[in-house]
Amino acid sequence: MRNKPIGIFDSGVGGLTVYNELEKACPADDIVYFGDTGRWPYGIRSPRVVTGYAGEIVDFLLSHEVKCIVVACNSASAMALENIGPDCPVPMIGVIKPVACTAAEATQNKRIGVIGTEGTIASGAYAEAIEAIDPSLKVTGKACPLFVALAEEGYLDRPATKLIVADYLASLKKLDIDTLVLGCTHYPLLKNVIAEEMGEDVRIIDSGASTAAEVKRRLIADGHYRDEDRRGIHRFYVSDTPGKFAQVGRLFLGREIGTVTQIDISRYGVEIPQPE
Ligand code: DGL
Repeated sequence: MRNKPIGIFDSGVGGLTVYNELEKACPADDIVYFGDTGRWPYGIRSPRVVTGYAGEIVDFLLSHEVKCIVVACNSASAMALENIGPDCPVPMIGVIKPVACTAAEATQNKRIGVIGTEGTIASGAYAEAIEAIDPSLKVTGKACPLFVALAEEGYLDRPATKLIVADYLASLKKLDIDTLVLGCTHYPLLKNVIAEEMGEDVRIIDSGASTAAEVKRRLIADGHYRDEDRRGIHRFYVSDTPGKFAQVGRLFLGREIGTVTQIDISRYGVEIPQPE
């Protein structure tokens, strides 16, 4: 089992922010990345639809005999993981719990803000996970859907970006939060503008590092961590044409991605319990 690859998926290219940290945490491991570029964004869809998509992707990754599956997409972690995780034959690790732990440890004044897609914020998954760690913590969510488009367009530090960020974050700024969770794969690209807007007293937490650390911890605990002197082989698959993924991926990773292969994800599918 140890020599099997790690599977990781996202609605598209954004999960590369988590992949980036995973590569650092598990450098010897092979990785299979799937980006559902043909059906993104997930953040505006219902839990039923996202759960169906995620079920197909899990089936695809299992066909690569992965030893665990990382749900890099915050929207899928928030809306689908609970439905699919228990029936998956390998461990599924989403971004919400690891990040909730980091945020709960980081806050001093017990006020935490969470920003994410509409689906992630509406699910209340972050608030639930953080309050399960410490019920005295106060969590306030705010959906910031335009941030995804800004990141994909490379609008990382423009005047328009600063205006939009200021507008979305105005309500959170009034709440005296000292910790802000970037609950979306794309938001780390806007981290500088967000941090500047929130001020230096607010700690910014993104999904990648906490999630990658949790994957490593879990693999070590299961005896499946590859602690060898080798560089893992990484394969990238998408459900739409590879060109755009490779282009935007360059922006996310700061380097070339290599070969990206398009697959027909609808050929995969497992029986999964659907939410009410
Ligand atoms: N990857 C998604 C997330 O982290 C953002 C893009 C989308 O809406 O699919 O929530």
